[in-house]
Amino acid sequence: MNFWLLIWSSILIFKCMRCEERNFRVYIDEVNITQVDTDLYEKFECKVYQVDNRTYMDSSHIFKRTVDDITVHAALDFWKLNSKQKMKLYDVEFDGCYILENSNKNRLFNMFVKNLKKHSTVKFKCPFQANVNYEFKNLTMSEQDFPSFVPLGKFRSLIEYITNQKLRSRVIASGKISPYPTDPFKVLE
Ligand SMILES: *[C@@H]1O[C@H](CO)[C@@H](O)[C@H](O)[C@H]1NC(C)=O
Ligand SMILES: *[C@@H]1O[C@H](CO)[C@@H](O)[C@H](O)[C@H]1NC(C)=O
Ligand SMILES: *[C@@H]1O[C@H](CO)[C@@H](O)[C@H](O)[C@H]1NC(C)=O
Repeated sequence: MNFWLLIWSSILIFKCMRCEERNFRVYIDEVNITQVDTDLYEKFECKVYQVDNRTYMDSSHIFKRTVDDITVHAALDFWKLNSKQKMKLYDVEFDGCYILENSNKNRLFNMFVKNLKKHSTVKFKCPFQANVNYEFKNLTMSEQDFPSFVPLGKFRSLIEYITNQKLRSRVIASGKISPYPTDPFKVLE
């Protein structure tokens, strides 16, 4: 249940053919959480950090009461390298509870949910219980989970969590897709 699942969902529009070494890396530079409804959240934090040219994420959510419906509004804007023109890759709304339960029906959501499971101590599923720390730590993205071709550039991801038709939080992340040498003799520009 968090913003970077969007980065994965962006690749729904592509198809991963083979899994070979990737010559790019996905970095998240910054995450801002705003519009946090303190009637619902005791705590909602997310931090990103870079270690060895890789982005890691820690996040913690504590709800004040049980949450059994979550609508997610997600949008992703992308700017190709050296281009000022914004591309809207998606702008969708979906049922967050359904995706957490049925990720196996979609390869990319499945990778996301598996990764989440590996890095969290509590299962992320509806209903979310009050006063439980839904936390994940040291979570990262593997290029292998992306299609072998993705364009280089910058992105901005918006995620809004809505329950009972009310906006409860907004997460904005910015990042980039940068070249990364897979061949030790190849020189980066
Ligand atoms: C990895 O990061 C280090 C410093 O954090 C930097 O010097 C190096 O150029 C980076 N390597 C690549 C391939 O980006
Ligand atoms: C985070 O994960 C990386 C790679 O999986 C590992 O090298 C590192 O030790 C982990 N850090 C922590 C604090 O668990
Ligand atoms: C996050 O907030 C800071 C301070 O308001 C702002 O400068 C920055 O552009 C924001 N980043 C994103 C990704 O929205």
